[in-house]
Amino acid sequence: MADVLNFKEKRWSLKGMTALVTGGSRGIGHAIVEELAGFEVAVHTCSRNQTELDQCLQEWKNKGFKVTGSVCDVSHRDQREKLMETVSSIFHGKLNILVNNAAKRMPKAAVEYTAEDISRIMSTNFESVFHFCQLSYPLFKASRYGRIVNISSNSSVVAIPSVSAYEASKGAVNQITKNLACEWAKDNILVNAISPGLIRTSLIESGKQV
Ligand SMILES: NC(=O)c1ccc[n+]([C@@H]2O[C@H](COP(=O)([O-])OP(=O)(O)OC[C@H]3O[C@@H](n4cnc5c(N)ncnc54)[C@H](OP(=O)(O)O)[C@@H]3O)[C@@H](O)[C@H]2O)c1
Repeated sequence: MADVLNFKEKRWSLKGMTALVTGGSRGIGHAIVEELAGFEVAVHTCSRNQTELDQCLQEWKNKGFKVTGSVCDVSHRDQREKLMETVSSIFHGKLNILVNNAAKRMPKAAVEYTAEDISRIMSTNFESVFHFCQLSYPLFKASRYGRIVNISSNSSVVAIPSVSAYEASKGAVNQITKNLACEWAKDNILVNAISPGLIRTSLIESGKQV
């Protein structure tokens, strides 16, 4: 029995790895942070709400997890750059895992989306994914091991009324995932997307997300 446990622990341990998970203060991102930290990964996460983030960090500290965090609105290019500087400094220039999770949904009829709405959805859901992958690339190269998981959505391959912009942004995530997977496999950087079905989180429950 002890041998079996040792085998499992060795097989699944991610000790020594480092990860950035965007949007870790709630929902799926929160669960991903806990799962990675449970496998002894050192995780950095972000969200826009300092108070909520601080509460999460305290809870994770109490559980013995190695998680740090900082405020970042992933829709802003300069804040993404600042976040990666922080990550690079905490992890000494090396990163192993990037989970692009933060996203916004903003349901409304197609004709009602303003230019600002579309720009906000694309910058949060798509540009941030592409840009974080670019920013992580040198850190992955330095560690010679990179794993990127982009959180897409199963709605990116169907058409659900009132979330056209969100679904289009996730379609773009699927495509960039394929392109980067082809370009970066030679560098031992594997790029995948996960497309969850409906999960009851604040993304779904608060129709009017900010
Ligand atoms: N729930 C579902 O049914 C479902 C289905 C398919 C795919 N997904 C995908 O799964 C991912 C996670 O969704 P979820 O349901 O867990 O969402 P959620 O409960 O709304 O949580 C989103 C997390 O991201 C953060 N966030 C949102 N906008 C951000 C921004 N601009 N910058 C930084 N952080 C931001 C939020 O914190 P703050 O608001 O404080 O910033 C929160 O921590 C998303 O990519 C979503 O598209 C979800």
